[in-house]
Amino acid sequence: MRLALVALLAGCPGNVPTDPTATDPPTPEPLNDPISMPLEPTVDLGDFQGAASCEGCHEEHVQEWSTSMHAYAMVDPLFRAIVEVRQADLNGAEDRFCVQCHSAIGTRSGSLDIGFSFDDQPAIVTEGITCVSCHKITSVERPWNAGHAIDPLAPMQGPSGTPSPIHEVSQSAVFQDSVLCGSCHDVIETSGLPLERPYAEWLESPAAAAGTTCQDCHMPPTEDGRHSHRFVGVDLPLVDGFVDEATRADLQLRIEELLAGSADLELDVFDVAPGQTASAVVTVHNLIEGHAFPTGSTFIREAWVELVARADGEVFYETGTLDANGDLRNYWSELEPYGDHDLISFASNFTDAAGAPTVFSWRAADHTSRAISPGYPRTSTLFLPVPEGAQEVTVEARLRFRAIPPYLLRLVGLDAYAVDLPVYDIDTASWVQVGP
Ligand code: HEC
Ligand code: HEC
Ligand code: HEC
Ligand code: HEC
Ligand code: HEC
Repeated sequence: MRLALVALLAGCPGNVPTDPTATDPPTPEPLNDPISMPLEPTVDLGDFQGAASCEGCHEEHVQEWSTSMHAYAMVDPLFRAIVEVRQADLNGAEDRFCVQCHSAIGTRSGSLDIGFSFDDQPAIVTEGITCVSCHKITSVERPWNAGHAIDPLAPMQGPSGTPSPIHEVSQSAVFQDSVLCGSCHDVIETSGLPLERPYAEWLESPAAAAGTTCQDCHMPPTEDGRHSHRFVGVDLPLVDGFVDEATRADLQLRIEELLAGSADLELDVFDVAPGQTASAVVTVHNLIEGHAFPTGSTFIREAWVELVARADGEVFYETGTLDANGDLRNYWSELEPYGDHDLISFASNFTDAAGAPTVFSWRAADHTSRAISPGYPRTSTLFLPVPEGAQEVTVEARLRFRAIPPYLLRLVGLDAYAVDLPVYDIDTASWVQVGP
C-alpha cells in the first residue's frame, strides 16, 4: 500500500522527486474501522452542540453529567498519559484507537487524527462523552469498540420520544437497553485481546435474565422522574477543580455506597493452637447480579483481601497490607516486589510475549482475570503459623478496593496525584480466641 502510494506520487508531474536513499520513517498506515475509525470524516464537528446549549432546559442532567467520568473522559490525566505512551510506542499508526470511545465525535470528525495532541482540541472534543455523544446515537451495530452509528442531524434520540418545541425527538429502544452501554464498555485491543467486557458478562448474568439493565443500576430514577446522569462507578476525578470539594465528597459517598453492596467477606479460622499452623478460610461473594466483581478496567483496579493475625497484640502474619509507598507488595512494588506470597487479589493482569507483567494493553500477549462471576463466591485458605505460648489470637480481615494504584501514577509520571487515593473497605470480618 505504501509502496503503491510512493510510486503514484513519484509518477505525478510537478511532484518533488523522492530521494531513493532517504531513510524517513515509514508513514504509518492508519487503523481503519468504517464505524469508529473511518479513514475519511463521517461527521462534521460543527453539527454537534455542547452540553452548555442543553443547560437552559435540562439543568439537572447537565449538572449531574458534569461530575461524571463521561465528562472527564478526555481531560483524565491518566488516560492522556497512557495514550501518549502508546503514541510514542506505535509511531502514530494507532493514534485513534484509544480515543474512538473517549471521544467518538472527535475521532469520526477527523479532529483526533494521526499525531493529534490533546491540547489543541475544540471544546466539544474535550467534553468527552458529552450529551450528544449518546443522544445522537441512532443504532448499535456491534456491542464493542464504539460500535454505534452517530448522526448529528438526526432528531434527539431518547427513551420516551416526548416531543419538545426546540428540537425534534425520536424514541429509541436502545436507550433502555444495555447494548447502548456495551457499544463502548466492551473494549477489544487491535491484537484481538479482550480488555474490558462488562456487557459480555452482563449477557450471561442473572440480571440479564431478569431484565435488569446497566441503566437500572448506574442511572437510577430520580425523585423528579428523570434518570440520574451521575453514572456512579468507582472512580473519582484526579484533577483539582474538575468538581468542587463538596461535590467530590458527595461522589465519594456514592462510590462507597455502590461498593458496599457489591461483595461480602466471610472468615473462619480453624486449628488454632500455640506452635501449630492454623487455617484461615476467606470467602468473598460477588453480590452484583449484573457483572463480575470487579469489572471494566480490572487491569488498573485493585480489589483484594487484607488479613492480619496477632498473638497477644503482636502481628505474626499479614497479607494484603501496603508498602511504604502505599502499594500492594506484588510485582509492582518498588520496595518489596513479590513480598506478599499469599496475596488474594481479584483484579486482572497483562503479560507480554516474554511472560513479563505489563500494564500497557498493546504490549500484552495475555490477559488473566481473577474477577468473580456474578452471584458466585471464591474461597481461599491461608496458613497462619501461631507462635509458641500464644494466649489471645485475633484475626482481622478486610475486603478492600482502590480504583487507581500509586505505582501506575508514578510509572507514567503523574507522581503528584499518587497521594490520598481512597481505599474503600467493602466488608470486614474478625475472629478472636482467648486461652490456649
Ligand atoms: C452515556 C450516555 C449518555 C450521556 C452522556 C447522556 N445521556 Fe441522557 N440519557 C441516557 C440514557 C440511557 C437515558 C435513558 C435512561 C432510562 O430511561 O433508563 C437518558 C435520558 C435522558 C433524558 C430523558 C429524561 C430522563 O432522565 O430519563 C434527557 C432529557 C437526557 N437524557 C438529557 C441528557 C443531557 C442534557 C445530557 C448531557 C448533559 C445527557 N443526557 C447525557 C444516556 C446518556
Ligand atoms: C429550549 C429548551 C431545550 C433545549 C435547549 C434542549 N432541550 Fe431537550 N427537551 C426539551 C423539552 C421540553 C423536552 C421534552 C420534555 C422532556 O423530556 O424534558 C426535551 C426532551 C429531550 C430528550 C428526551 C427524549 C426522550 O425520548 O425522552 C433528550 C434526550 C433531550 N431533550 C436532549 C437534549 C440535549 C442533548 C440538548 C442539548 C444539545 C437539549 N435537549 C436541548 C427542551 C430543550
Ligand atoms: C445489578 C446492578 C448492576 C448492573 C445491572 C450493572 N452494574 Fe455496573 N456496577 C455495579 C456495582 C455494584 C459496581 C461496583 C463494583 C465493581 O466495580 O464491580 C459496578 C461497577 C461498574 C463499573 C466500574 C468498574 C470498575 O471497577 O472500573 C463499570 C464501568 C460498570 N459497572 C459498567 C456497567 C455496565 C456497562 C453494565 C451493563 C452491561 C453494568 N455496569 C450493569 C452494579 C451493576
Ligand atoms: C461513547 C462511549 C460510551 C458510552 C455509550 C457509554 N459509556 Fe460509560 N464510560 C465511557 C468511558 C470512556 C468511561 C471512562 C472515562 C474515564 O474515566 O476516563 C466511562 C465511564 C463510565 C462509568 C464510570 C466508571 C468508573 O470507573 O467510575 C460508568 C458507571 C459508566 N460509564 C456507565 C455507563 C452506562 C450505564 C452507559 C449506558 C447507558 C454508558 N456508560 C455508556 C464510555 C461510554
Ligand atoms: C471501546 C471503547 C474504549 C476504548 C477503545 C478505550 N477505552 Fe479507555 N475506557 C473505556 C471505558 C468504557 C472505561 C471505563 C471502564 C471502567 O471504569 O471500568 C475506560 C476507562 C479508561 C481508563 C480509566 C480511567 C481512570 O481514570 O480510572 C483509562 C486510563 C483508559 N480508559 C485508557 C485507555 C487507553 C490508554 C486506551 C487505548 C489503549 C483506551 N482507554 C481505549 C472505553 C474505551
